[in-house]
Amino acid sequence: ENISPFVNEPFVNFSLEENKQAMEKAISIVKSELGQNIPLHIGEKKVFTEDVITSINPGNLDEVIGYVSKANQALAEEAMQMAVSTFETWKRVPARDRAEYLFKAAALMRERKHEFSALMILESGKNYAEADADTAEAIDFIEFYAREILRLDQINETQPLTKVQGEDNRLTYIPIGVGVIIPPWNFPLAICVGMTTAAVVSGNTVLLKPASTTPAIAHKFVALMEEVGLPAGVINFIPGSGAEVGDYLTSHPKTRFISFTGSKEVGLHISKLAANTSEGQIWIKRLIAEMGGKDGIVVDETANLDAAAQSIVASAFGFQGQKCSAGSRAIIVEAVYDEVVEKVKALTEKLVVGLPELNYPAGPVIDKGSYDKILNYIEIGKGEGTLLTGGSPAEGNGYYIQPTVFADVKPGARIMKEEIFGPVLAICKASDYKEAIEIYNDTEFGLTGSYFSSDQNRIEEALETMHCGNLYINRKCTGALVGAHPFGGFNMSGTDSKAGGYDYLLLFTQAKLTSRKL
Ligand code: NAD
Ligand code: ALA
Repeated sequence: ENISPFVNEPFVNFSLEENKQAMEKAISIVKSELGQNIPLHIGEKKVFTEDVITSINPGNLDEVIGYVSKANQALAEEAMQMAVSTFETWKRVPARDRAEYLFKAAALMRERKHEFSALMILESGKNYAEADADTAEAIDFIEFYAREILRLDQINETQPLTKVQGEDNRLTYIPIGVGVIIPPWNFPLAICVGMTTAAVVSGNTVLLKPASTTPAIAHKFVALMEEVGLPAGVINFIPGSGAEVGDYLTSHPKTRFISFTGSKEVGLHISKLAANTSEGQIWIKRLIAEMGGKDGIVVDETANLDAAAQSIVASAFGFQGQKCSAGSRAIIVEAVYDEVVEKVKALTEKLVVGLPELNYPAGPVIDKGSYDKILNYIEIGKGEGTLLTGGSPAEGNGYYIQPTVFADVKPGARIMKEEIFGPVLAICKASDYKEAIEIYNDTEFGLTGSYFSSDQNRIEEALETMHCGNLYINRKCTGALVGAHPFGGFNMSGTDSKAGGYDYLLLFTQAKLTSRKL
C-alpha cells in the first residue's frame, strides 16, 4: 500500500483546558501503577533480579517509579548470545516487514502519547510541553526511520552504478550485526527510541542498556515493541551499571557496533575501549557517539531584542538546561548588551520552580550527582561573573535549583567553557559581531548555536563561520525536528551522525557490491 510522506507529530497545546485535563488524567493513571518490578528482556525470557535500580521521581524523592532489574555480566552475556543468534534470522526479514513493526509501534504510541509523557513527567522531571515534545519526537523517529529503510531498500534495487557491458552490478546496504545501544536520560524516550529503532529497522539486533535514572520509560517502549509483535531477541533490554555491564559489552568481541549518546567523558571512554580488539573479534567496531555541548546564542545590535531574549531564556532553561542543545552561553554585542541582559533577567525571573506534575515551567534536575555538580558550578560562577538572578537551591522535596544567570562573564571562564547541564546561563559581552562569533567558536564542542540579527550580510557570514552541527538563525538553539533539522555535532560534541536525517541509517548498514557476469 502507499505510505504517506513523513510529517512531524504536532505538539499538544496545554493552554487548552481539555488537553491539560487529559494529561492530568494520564498522570493519575500512571501514578496508580507506579512501584512495579520491571524485568530484563532476554529474548522471550523476562528476568527479575534481586539487585535492582530503584527509579525515583526527581521532583518528589519519596515517590518510587519502579524497581528495575539489573543485569550483571553473566546476564549481559546471555543477552549477547541471544542477540547474536537472533541476528541470523532477523537480518533476513524483508525491510518492508521490519518497517511494518515500526509503523504499528508509532500508531500505538500516538494513541497512548499522554501515558508515555506522564511517565516521563514523573521519572525525569519534565513539564507537560517538554514531555509531550519528547514523545512527539519518539513517534517522529519511528515513522521517519520506517520510511527510511523503505527508501534504502528501493536504492538497493536502483543504485546508479556505471554500466559495464556484460555485467550486472549492484550495491546493496545490508545489516551489520549486534549493536549495543546506550542512550542518555535527558530525552529518555525520544533518543532511546530513535537509537534503537534505527538499528533494528536496518536489520540488526540490539542490547539496549538504558540510562539508570530513566529505565522505566525505556522499558515502556520495549514493552510496546513486544506488543506489536517484534520478534523476541531483536531488542534485548538490559539495564545495568555502565562500569560493569557497559564496559563488558563495549569490549565484547561479538559487539559489531555501539550507538552511544551521552557525555563527552563516557563517550571518549567507550571510544577507547571499542578501539581495542578482543580475542575472537573479526571486525573493527563501529562507534556512533553523540556527546555534550556548550551551545550559545549570539546577538548583534540589529537583532529583534525581544525575540533574542525569549530564545536565550527558552534555550537556557527548557528542561532545566538539561539538553545537549541547551544555550548555556549568550554572547551579546556591547551596543545592546544592557538592554538584552535586562530582558533576560526579567524573563528568567518569571520561571517559577515547582513540581513537574503540576506543570511548573521549571522543575528539578535529574539526580543528586547533577544537583551537587550544578551547585558547584554556581559557586564557581559567583567568582567568574555577576550573579543576576538565582544562584541557590529552590524549595521542594526534590533536586530543585533556581534558574541562574551570570552576566559579565569573560570568554575563558569555566562556566563559558564547560558543560554544566543545568539551569545556569553565562552571558558575555563582545565589542562587535565578529568578536561575538569568535567567542562563540572558542569551545571544544560544536553542537548547536544561534545567531540573532537582521543584517543579511552578517547572517551569511555567521552561517559560514559559526562552527557547529546545528546552526539556527533568529530562533532558539533547542528543539530540532526530525526530518527538518537532522541532529548531531562537531568536534567533542560527537560523530555528527545526524539523527533524524537521510544519512542516519547508513551508519547501521554496510554496502555490499555484487558483480555478476552475464
Ligand atoms: P552519561 O555519559 O553519564 O551516560 C550516558 C549513558 O552511558 C547512560 O546510559 C549511562 O548509563 C551509560 N554509561 C555510563 N558509563 C558507561 C560505560 N562505562 N560503558 C557504557 N555505558 C556507560 O550521560 P547522561 O548524563 O546520561 O546524559 C547527559 C549527557 O548526554 C550530556 O553531556 C549531554 O550533552 C549528552 N547528550 C548528547 C546528545 C547529542 O545528541 N549530542 C543528546 C542528549 C544528551
Ligand atoms: N534534539 C534536541 C534538541 O534539538 C536535543 O533540542
